Amino acid sequence: MRATTSAATCEADLARSLEALARLPAAAEKILGLALHEGSTARHIAAACASDPELSGRILRLASSPVLGCRQPVGQLLQAAVVLGMNRIRNLVLAAHIVEALRLPAGALDGGRFFRHAFAVASLARALGQAARSRQSEDMYLAGLLHDVGIAVFLAAAPEAYAASLERVRSGGAVLEDEERELFGIDHAEAGCRLASRWPVDRRVATVIRFHAGIGPGGAGPPPECREAVEVLVVAELVCRHHGWGLVRELEPLPPDFVPPAWLPLSRGAVLDLFGAAATAADEVRRVAGVPR
Ligand SMILES: [Fe+2]
Ligand SMILES: [Fe+2]
Repeated sequence: MRATTSAATCEADLARSLEALARLPAAAEKILGLALHEGSTARHIAAACASDPELSGRILRLASSPVLGCRQPVGQLLQAAVVLGMNRIRNLVLAAHIVEALRLPAGALDGGRFFRHAFAVASLARALGQAARSRQSEDMYLAGLLHDVGIAVFLAAAPEAYAASLERVRSGGAVLEDEERELFGIDHAEAGCRLASRWPVDRRVATVIRFHAGIGPGGAGPPPECREAVEVLVVAELVCRHHGWGLVRELEPLPPDFVPPAWLPLSRGAVLDLFGAAATAADEVRRVAGVPR
């Protein structure tokens, strides 16, 4: 039976949920603004991080991580800013924010499962971008991290009604996006895009989130400047599901006719092989970002 929550109630809850999540801690707001500004230096970033002790600790732990190839601990924020670079720090800032701000109810889709999927898609998207020598690989990471944030926002906004929708999708009787539009008037790709648009990040990241399933509103394809990042997310999503790290349905084998986009210099087997290292990196960043186990 359908949940009795009305669409209007869900839309109001969604607006409140987006409003709350869009509000960033002062240091995070500052760092994201610096990352957008070409004249910013590692010294500026280090100074902005220093005002938030918890964030500083996370940045130092990430910069010292052997998983990221660091041979010795990094003790100074300036050194960490140089090691990680501005965009990796930006990504950690937003990861820590959503981990802190999203309160997912236990049950249909808990935080552990949500963040495992988000960090894995992000890490794999970055690895694919790096394999193609893309200059957008850190933006691909951020879009991967946030691509399904709309699902978590819906779940936080209307836990019972949306959990019932997810259950219908999981049992094969419903299409996720149809359920979402009925409840909230928009799907999770649009919700995630609206949230990302309210943060000071490159607007292309928000657009990639809107098109993360490969198509957008009305069946339109992504704009040309976002096409490669969208294709990377589609591949990362399929490979994560293939390895049992999906979100709504955990395990979905790769379609037999899957081939990577021609511009990606990787075979089908090579794409699948990237998963192991990406999952290890995802686990490490999840730990640093404070995802509860
Ligand atoms: Fe996903
Ligand atoms: Fe999605």
